[in-house]
Amino acid sequence: MIIALDGPAASGKGTLARRLAAHYGLPHLDTGLLYRATARALMAAGERLDDERRAVEAARGLALMDFDEDSLRGREMGEAASVVGAIPAVREALLEMQRSFASRPEGAVLDGRDIGTVICPQAQVKIFVTASPETRANRRALELARRGEKVDYAAVLEDIRKRDERDSQRSSAPLLAAADAVTLDTTALDIEGAVKAALAIVAERAASKV
Ligand code: CDP
Repeated sequence: MIIALDGPAASGKGTLARRLAAHYGLPHLDTGLLYRATARALMAAGERLDDERRAVEAARGLALMDFDEDSLRGREMGEAASVVGAIPAVREALLEMQRSFASRPEGAVLDGRDIGTVICPQAQVKIFVTASPETRANRRALELARRGEKVDYAAVLEDIRKRDERDSQRSSAPLLAAADAVTLDTTALDIEGAVKAALAIVAERAASKV
């Protein structure tokens, strides 16, 4: 079974993806890390984030050691990932890696922006996870504070709005719910509530597609 989770920044898709993967014993790929790692490689080499040729080279050169989550999770890297993610050739360079992860016989859980629309249009289960910008900014501010980053709620909210706009307006694989995705609004849900709702969606989808 392939479970595709898409949604805007800090909507809760990453947490849900980890929980669903553990529940069903499936491997999980947080595809945002690929874009974050590409951005970090460019920054480390002193290149511009919008240099298409260098960005594609960086995406192609990603190795497993590039995915040290802790250093990729910061605020700056999320913003930079959104810039490289808007380059169609970078998305193309990262496509095969994602599809091959999803093609394991047991299936997989992938979370990102275009899993249900571009990477795995055949996924049995597609969930589009959303929450209000204010709720997402609150969650992200808490998460960054826990990481020890200095946070300013207003700046985090501004980041979220800017990122929503960039991710939704880009021409290549914009943030968009697939026509056959179920939308899960987590604004009023805590983690356990969201996990319960997601499990119900998976159960319903799995039953209807056998
Ligand atoms: O949780 P958050 O959305 O902040 O982080 P993320 O999922 O790691 O995504 C960071 C950025 O990478 C997003 O704003 C997108 O621009 C980009 N991204 C993408 O374009 N496609 C994906 N499948 C995943 C992330």
